Amino acid sequence: QNSYLVDGELKEWQGQQTEVFSTISSTEIYKPTLLGTVPELGENEALEALLSAERAYNRGQGLWPTMRVESRIEAMEKFVAQMKTKREAVVKLLMWEIGKNLPDSEKEFDRTVDYIYDTIEEYKQMNRDAAKFEKNSGVYAHIRRGPLGVVLCLGPYNYPLNETFTLLIPALIMGNTTIFKPAKHGVLLLSPLMEAFKNSFPPGVVNIIFGRGRTLATPIMKTGKIDILALIGNSKSANAIQANHPNKNRLRLVLGLEANNPAIVLPDADLDLAIKECVLGTTSFNGQRCTALKVLYVHESIVEEFNKRFSAKIDALRFGNPWDDGVELTPLPEPGKPAYIIELIEDAKEKGAAIINKNGGKTTENYVFPAVLYPVTKSMRVYEEEQFGPVIPIIAFKNIQEPLDDMAESNYGQQVSVFGSDINTLSPLIDTLVNLVCRVNLNSSCQRGPDVYPFTGRKDSAVATLSVYDALRSFSIRTFVASKDT
Ligand code: G3H
Repeated sequence: QNSYLVDGELKEWQGQQTEVFSTISSTEIYKPTLLGTVPELGENEALEALLSAERAYNRGQGLWPTMRVESRIEAMEKFVAQMKTKREAVVKLLMWEIGKNLPDSEKEFDRTVDYIYDTIEEYKQMNRDAAKFEKNSGVYAHIRRGPLGVVLCLGPYNYPLNETFTLLIPALIMGNTTIFKPAKHGVLLLSPLMEAFKNSFPPGVVNIIFGRGRTLATPIMKTGKIDILALIGNSKSANAIQANHPNKNRLRLVLGLEANNPAIVLPDADLDLAIKECVLGTTSFNGQRCTALKVLYVHESIVEEFNKRFSAKIDALRFGNPWDDGVELTPLPEPGKPAYIIELIEDAKEKGAAIINKNGGKTTENYVFPAVLYPVTKSMRVYEEEQFGPVIPIIAFKNIQEPLDDMAESNYGQQVSVFGSDINTLSPLIDTLVNLVCRVNLNSSCQRGPDVYPFTGRKDSAVATLSVYDALRSFSIRTFVASKDT
């Protein structure tokens, strides 16, 4: 990828390039594979992109923000039609760049396409619902959701396509203009889509830049010209980036941040089902999902049985390259991750936990096999940190108040899974859980989808909601045209 997109032009970059490696080795002796390079842009190019987005917005008077609904839909439809022709290339890059297995890579692509179509439909509906008449007021109102301005959009490496597009697409269709900086891993998969962006939207509406997040975001934010910071990632980056904006009252935040989602397994749970779902929830994409299950609370009366059967299922998971048939565990894209995971395991062991599965903690250059740790306590780093990887802490509880208190104390509040069968126990429990998190998964693991459902969190887990419906509202403001009934 030699160019970046500014002002509707794919600009060739002659300066420094960053090499993009895959953690997957194509030789017997471990050596990460060089996949390509991306421009290492600096402050000048960041400000060039900002200027381009500002010009296209033109203080609300640009072509894009004033465009008719039908024409904006047309542009979006053109984009998604072109994007669909790049499925194979994007899926391949998802596997090589971030090590996501084939079915999940295909799912990420298809789900993103669906998200775009659903967004178009919701946008049409929003406009159909626009006319209002307040009885006896004598005033007709035509509600128009309008854009807010220039959006800086930053995405994560674990869903480099889906998560960034769930910010970018609603921001665009609402008439905002955008500067988009993809994540460090999963950056090359933008290459097959650059032409589609260029061909579908007016110049300056989508600007795509490459380089280090803070290097590019800091000068952009310092100008005070960003109206929405849209970011899915961690709160440390979100806080550092937004702190540069000189006028916080003029900055809207749309943030999807960390979580440490628990599962609670009650004494009367269907153990087979609970184990199956907990395996999926903890190990899918090696635990690198903000929606992953990060701690399992199991009632003390069943913990021994649970641990035995759960550990056996974890040990039976298959590790391999993403394109291999039936592979569930794949190499980790972050080079420093295995060492970090080992640190967490060692810390837990020093503080009294043991690895209870046979293969747990087995390490290669690019991977650590999921380690099931028991008994875990709150003083351990693995409990405290959003480890975003293959470690599975288990805590036994006597009284349901114990996990509830932990959840109430936690800095996060995205989701919980609860496994049980007695409706008289579950019903009041759910009434409490919905006040601690934003999604309660009954006898199933945590997940974001289907993407038409609200995706958000309490406390440090999110700012704003990202269902198809809510995202359109997060990236716009409600305005209206009033007329008197004369
Ligand atoms: O990292 C957070 C993702 O939104 C997770 O989505 O639950 O569909 O894997 P998912």
